[in-house]
Amino acid sequence: MRAYATILAAAALGASLSTAALAQDAAPSKAEVDAVIEAAFPGIDAEWTARLTPDATMEQCNRFANLPPDDVFEEIRTRAAGTIVYPDDGVLMGSWENGETLAQSGYGMRFSDYPPRRETGGNCYACHQLTPQEVSYGTLGPSLLGYGKLRDFSEEAVKATYEKIYDPHVALPCSMMPRFGTNGVLTIDQIRDIVALLMDPASPVNQ
Ligand code: HEC
Repeated sequence: MRAYATILAAAALGASLSTAALAQDAAPSKAEVDAVIEAAFPGIDAEWTARLTPDATMEQCNRFANLPPDDVFEEIRTRAAGTIVYPDDGVLMGSWENGETLAQSGYGMRFSDYPPRRETGGNCYACHQLTPQEVSYGTLGPSLLGYGKLRDFSEEAVKATYEKIYDPHVALPCSMMPRFGTNGVLTIDQIRDIVALLMDPASPVNQ
């Protein structure tokens, strides 16, 4: 969610920053950027203000423009791995049907979604191709068509997929993908359903 807030803020910022850049002929300082971001969201409540503050991982990714040196890379990876909570029963796959509903849903955590009126979605199609039936999808992330089949439906791949969705920085520090588990966007059950969408042999992703 913090990354999302940053994207929103960056979009809102575009105009004022380019004016500043022209006037000063130099990149704005961090303090200047922070001040413009603060000013872009007047009168928001504490929950939203908190989203504007980068946590340790976002701060490091920002500082190194998403290309941190090896030691910081490993620090981010270790921190991300430490946040992952596994289901008590050890079952990492739920229902691919629910997973498809969640992958389609962009509901939740936007200004207009308060107070929440239904469950938050994963909005996976905003960045990925998943099932062949859905032809409307974004391409910021790679296509996930045939994801489980390409990985022989292996147990290790199921675990890696659960971790990827829970916190993508374990596999790739400074990933552009949201941290669905770590940031409390999706519950463990919802993540299991999305893992099934990718890894269940019966899922349309793998047909
Ligand atoms: C804001 C865009 C965005 C959203 C939303 C998003 N992803 Fe991603 N995802 C990415 C990007 C970019 C990558 C490639 C970089 C990486 O691996 O972290 C990626 C990588 C992945 C990978 C690893 C692909 C591989 O080749 O190993 C999986 C699996 C994945 N995403 C699943 C999901 C699922 C499931 C959802 C919804 C719950 C989702 N993503 C939502 C951007 C996104």
